[in-house]
Amino acid sequence: KRSRMKGIWRFAELLPVKSGSPVTMGEGNTPLIRLEKLEKVIGVRRLYAKFEGANPTGSFKDRGMSLAVTVAKEVKARAVVAASTGNTAASAAAYSARAGLKTFLILPSGKVALGKLAQSLLHGAVVVELEGNFDAALEAVKELAKMPEFYPLNSFNPWRLEGQKTLAFELFEEIGVPDVVVVPVGNAGNISAIWKGFKELKEFGYSEALPKMVGVQAEGASPIASAFKAGLNAPLFTDSPETVATAIRIGKPVNWMKAWKAVTESGGTFEVVSDSEIIRAQRLLAREEGVAAEPAGAASLAGVVRLASEGYFNGDEVVTVVVTGHGLKDPDSVKFHPANKLTALNVEDAVEKVVSALKVV
Ligand code: F0G
Repeated sequence: KRSRMKGIWRFAELLPVKSGSPVTMGEGNTPLIRLEKLEKVIGVRRLYAKFEGANPTGSFKDRGMSLAVTVAKEVKARAVVAASTGNTAASAAAYSARAGLKTFLILPSGKVALGKLAQSLLHGAVVVELEGNFDAALEAVKELAKMPEFYPLNSFNPWRLEGQKTLAFELFEEIGVPDVVVVPVGNAGNISAIWKGFKELKEFGYSEALPKMVGVQAEGASPIASAFKAGLNAPLFTDSPETVATAIRIGKPVNWMKAWKAVTESGGTFEVVSDSEIIRAQRLLAREEGVAAEPAGAASLAGVVRLASEGYFNGDEVVTVVVTGHGLKDPDSVKFHPANKLTALNVEDAVEKVVSALKVV
């Protein structure tokens, strides 16, 4: 029976949800891609990207959403609700559509990347735009979740994290326990979930080692990472988070305490990166390694580059960066990268243009 399960449900024995009919699209089983060029430049033994953009809706959220929507169906919820910077919305819309649940999404107006908004609308969710940021949208969800009609799909819902912990199980199967696992941090659920996965592997006797967990935040939205680096013992919440990586544009992460614990227990650290470092990492992934990440998804690599420049690595580490979302999610971000101007030409001119362009490569 177990062998028929795919993706995250292969690990059903390690999931607390027992369902004969999970709401699934084969999420998980994402590619682990060796970044051979970048590992040489950065100076670590091996560098991998766990490419979560390859999930059914293009982000890691699908791992948790499969579980949470399965639970929503089993508790006979009629409607689900979520606040989102975009990826949770897209994933909730898709999985809830599959389960036949009405989906309500509360999104920060003007701050959700185009691909994610399009996905939410395509799957038929009711989208409510909020004059405010993600943190305000989450307040609205908490209010709605008090009513029995609405089942919440944000990461304060523990089933989400149970699904997301399967990334650790896959990594372990693929390369054993890496020395360092680097995760972009927004609402701080994912890094906590991955750490839980590694701890369970050890607890149940599968593995002996644990990785160091590194959380990366964007400079303008770094309530946890900035406080950690300043030696404080609690985050510095902000009302006005701002970053090009809109997925992690969050000022008051609900799961901050779990993430803080993951980093300190594991002996890891938090890192802060600027928007330009994020864009540079997005370019490195795309143009050196062929991996398309949305800006937030490239923040983990930006964190590794920054840590390397600070002498964090001794050169012998196996490092995995979690690339949390696909580049297609945020087509606007292409504007931050050099590219040739597009003009429509006839066949003759097109040939001439390609030939002359080759000379300057
Ligand atoms: N990377 C991407 C691409 C994300 O969409 C998110 C979160 C994160 C990283 C951070 O993960 O919140 O668990 O620390 N996106 C949420 C959303 C907030 O609404 O889609 P986290």
